[in-house]
Amino acid sequence: MDDIARLRDEYKDRKGRFAGSNLYSWFNQANLFALHQRQRSILAALKKNKFTALSSLSILEMGCGGGGVLTEYLGFGALPEKLHGVDLLFDRLLHAHHTLPSSGFANADGQSLPFPSQTFDLVLQSTAISSILDPDLRRNICADMLRVLRSPAPASGKPGGMILSYDFWLNPTNPQTRGVRPAEIKQLFPNCQYEFHRITLAPPIARKLAPISWGLCLFLESLKILNTHYLVAIRPKSED
Ligand SMILES: C[S@@+](CC[C@H](N)C(=O)[O-])C[C@H]1O[C@@H](n2cnc3c(N)ncnc32)[C@H](O)[C@@H]1O
Repeated sequence: MDDIARLRDEYKDRKGRFAGSNLYSWFNQANLFALHQRQRSILAALKKNKFTALSSLSILEMGCGGGGVLTEYLGFGALPEKLHGVDLLFDRLLHAHHTLPSSGFANADGQSLPFPSQTFDLVLQSTAISSILDPDLRRNICADMLRVLRSPAPASGKPGGMILSYDFWLNPTNPQTRGVRPAEIKQLFPNCQYEFHRITLAPPIARKLAPISWGLCLFLESLKILNTHYLVAIRPKSED
C-alpha cells in the first residue's frame, strides 16, 4: 500500500476512534492550554518577522483538515477570502468549507499544490508532515510549499514570504506518525533561515495537570525539556 492509501485508511479509522471524544475540544482544559500556548508562539513569530498586517496577506495551509487552524488566523486579522487550504480528505474539506465559505479549498495532494509559483505570503503546515511516513512524499510536499511561497525581491526591498511549521518531534505511542526534528526541517526546506521554538507541554502531562494547575503547566512548558513540538519560522534566503 502506498503512503497516500495508508493515510486515507488511517484517517477513516481515526474518525471512528475519536468519535465522541473531547480530546480536541476547546472545553478540554489540556487542549485549551496547548492551543493558547501555540497561538502565543505563532503570534510572537509573526510579530518578530513583521507579519502583523494579516489582512494584506494571502495564506495557504497544506493539510488543513477541517479548517480549525485557518479559522484561528481570522482572529489574528486574516481575511477569509485570502485564506486557502489543501487536503487529501474530501469530508474534512467539506467541513472547512462550511466553516469558511468564502475561503478557497482544494482537494489535492500537497505534492502538487494547485497554485502558481510565488502565490502566498504565508504557507502553514500543522501536524500534517508528521502524518506522512514516506520520505519522498515529505520531500515533495515541502518542495511544493516552497514553490508557492513568495520569494524575496531584493531590488524592491520586499522580504518574501514565510513558512510556519508546527509539528511534534516525538510521539512514541503512534506508529502511524513520525516526528519531524530540526535537522530534517533543514533538509526538507533547504537554503532557508530557521527559527525553532520548542513548545507544547507533552499532552499526557498536560491532560493530568491542566485541570488542576494552569500555572504549573506554564512553568513546566517554560522548562522546554518536556515539550513535544517545534514551531518553526522558515524564510528562504535572499539570492543576491
Ligand atoms: C493531523 S491532521 C492536521 C489537520 C490540521 N492541519 C490541524 O492542525 O487541525 C493532518 C492532515 O494532513 C492531511 N494530509 C496528509 N498528507 C497529505 C497530502 N499528501 N496532501 C494533502 N493533505 C495531506 C491529512 O489528510 C490530514 O487532514
